[in-house]
Amino acid sequence: MRAVLYRRFGGPEVLEVGEVPPPEARPGTVRIAVHAAGVNAADWKMREGFFAGGRPLSSPAIVGSEAAGVVTAVGDGVTGVQEGDEVFGFGRGTWAEQAVLDAWAPRPHGMPIEEAAGTPVAFETALRALDAVRVVEGDTVVLSGAAGGVGTAAVQIARSRGAIVIGTASSANHDYLEALGALPTTYEAGWPDRVRDLAVAEVDAAVDLAGAGVIPDLVSLTGDPARVVSIADFSAPDHGVQVSQRPGDRVAALELAVRLHEEGALRMIVERGFVLDQAVEALEESRAGHVRGRTVVLVDRG
Ligand SMILES: NC(=O)c1ccc[n+]([C@@H]2O[C@H](COP(=O)([O-])OP(=O)(O)OC[C@H]3O[C@@H](n4cnc5c(N)ncnc54)[C@H](OP(=O)(O)O)[C@@H]3O)[C@@H](O)[C@H]2O)c1
Repeated sequence: MRAVLYRRFGGPEVLEVGEVPPPEARPGTVRIAVHAAGVNAADWKMREGFFAGGRPLSSPAIVGSEAAGVVTAVGDGVTGVQEGDEVFGFGRGTWAEQAVLDAWAPRPHGMPIEEAAGTPVAFETALRALDAVRVVEGDTVVLSGAAGGVGTAAVQIARSRGAIVIGTASSANHDYLEALGALPTTYEAGWPDRVRDLAVAEVDAAVDLAGAGVIPDLVSLTGDPARVVSIADFSAPDHGVQVSQRPGDRVAALELAVRLHEEGALRMIVERGFVLDQAVEALEESRAGHVRGRTVVLVDRG
């Protein structure tokens, strides 16, 4: 099968589209024919060895951590799903014609396959971050970096809980944020004052999604480091702020995403699809840091 892979850590030059054997469905997993796979910042960070702790790559790695497609094999111990079912979920090596998912849910008919492919990581991360700062109805929550994949999910989840959402983004993305239900402001100098002006009452909670060095400002806005969380700034603990890294219950997150989608409260906005041969471009666009919503890689199934 065709897959986007790398044999050593590095920049765009280490990526290749090569032929590899299809993976086996291990116990507790399903294998899918991938129709679309999400593009995540973690994909280029992994390629660069960001999470490897200085150790070299021991075997070739295939890019990708989420996908949507059709089940082609069911691992031992798996029930409730069979070959031919349409699913979406989390896995490793999803930028390929076939991939193994280790947490998945049925893809509802009304959820387009590109949206499903780009939903798992963004939605689970957004849900976990909002839960970490206990966002509930009536809260005002600030999202720093609201226009990306995780931000797109976070705005919609927080709105579905009845929270008021203030999101930072470049001005080109303000109409986008308003359409999602957030009050936008830019992240240029003076943004904390603009957030205070937009907030009708106190700012209750804040989520740093962009890792743009804003933790002290977010603590000052909420007045409580326990109601601030970052998903991207590892200096946050220096300010008494938690970094959320470990996935929670991924299947429960997918099921909630399906429910919100069916209620009309969630859409993962996918404005751009690449093909496998455009893997370098897809990862470079993510690395540049200004994707709106999610981008996906579409696998040509002939
Ligand atoms: N901890 C975890 O579990 C976890 C999970 C998923 C992702 N992450 C990390 O979280 C980060 C965001 O992920 P993502 O998937 O949402 O990324 P993404 O889709 O690539 O988001 C990029 C967004 O960041 C915004 N942005 C860029 N510079 C900014 C700044 N200075 N201030 C505010 N916003 C800014 C951009 O908005 P403009 O174009 O308007 O500038 C763009 O919409 C990444 O670093 C990723 O690695 C962590």
